Amino acid sequence: MLKVRIGSLSLPNPVMTASGTFGYGKEYEDFVNIHKLGAIVVKGISFDPRPGNPPPRIVETACGMLNAIGLQNVGVERFIEEKLPYLRNMNCRVIVNILGDSVEEYCAITQRLNEEKGIQAIELNISCPNVKKGGVAFGTNSSMAHEVVSQVRKETSLPLIVKLSPNVTDITEMAKAAEDGGADAVSLINTLIGMAIDIHKKKPVLANTIGGLSGPAIKPVALRMVWQVADAVKIPVIGIGGISTWQDAIEFILAGASAIQVGTANFFNPRITDEIIIGIEDYLKKNKYSSVREIIGLAKN
Ligand SMILES: Cc1cc2nc3c(=O)[nH]c(=O)nc-3n(C[C@H](O)[C@H](O)[C@H](O)COP(=O)(O)O)c2cc1C
Repeated sequence: MLKVRIGSLSLPNPVMTASGTFGYGKEYEDFVNIHKLGAIVVKGISFDPRPGNPPPRIVETACGMLNAIGLQNVGVERFIEEKLPYLRNMNCRVIVNILGDSVEEYCAITQRLNEEKGIQAIELNISCPNVKKGGVAFGTNSSMAHEVVSQVRKETSLPLIVKLSPNVTDITEMAKAAEDGGADAVSLINTLIGMAIDIHKKKPVLANTIGGLSGPAIKPVALRMVWQVADAVKIPVIGIGGISTWQDAIEFILAGASAIQVGTANFFNPRITDEIIIGIEDYLKKNKYSSVREIIGLAKN
């Protein structure tokens, strides 16, 4: 009933965890049956380890949060040695989110991941600055987005999901560039750029000044973008942004998402993904659908 397909990737249900909000899976083993999730998208991996930004790097906001973690991560080698064996053992479907500051870095990580078993797909985080192009984010320029996707495409036969940035004028252009470059699916949205100021210190709260806004506050924006992108491309769309109840997940699926990812909600309810899976199944039964696939994009008819 809950099975979905994302290109050649077959998932037992459409509920995944969003990169950076679920660690490398083990962190949540006391709360969630992690092997029952549709998939785990792990924290973004670069080629070399990254220390991230100095603190403070998280602020709570109305119905959400700002983060400026700065893509801190263990790097591809330690991920393979220390994190992947556990996920393989748990029989989880693993999607590795990767990041880079050049096309070459994205390709090098992909080549290294190709050699490993137990990885079901790669998710390209293209919200990162291209150092060789003056720090403009790959995902904010359609030709740069196309370039990085098509180069990574040449490196792997694993399903390739391209994660789009919402910090653009027209996200459908970026989705089409990813599709043309050979993406099997697009996931959206990453965080929206925001900031907060401490009125007593009269300074930005985050050491990095700006950060990414996530959580329920961004849901209507994310839903609108999923709706638009689902019309613009033929490849599957994965909805992300503020999903914190099963009803939110159903909204994204009705808007055209074939699957969804849960991010910030894991922080305030670590059991939320299990609850969303149960809620979707109950909704389908009550409304007499035999498969979740029957309701994908139904709000458009
Ligand atoms: C603390 C934190 C760390 C994140 N790290 C990553 C990351 O490494 N790679 C990535 O593609 N997205 C990252 N994200 C973005 C989320 O995966 C997700 O796209 C975004 O938070 C919107 O979903 P949400 O509102 O459900 O959290 C991060 C988000 C948060 C809050």
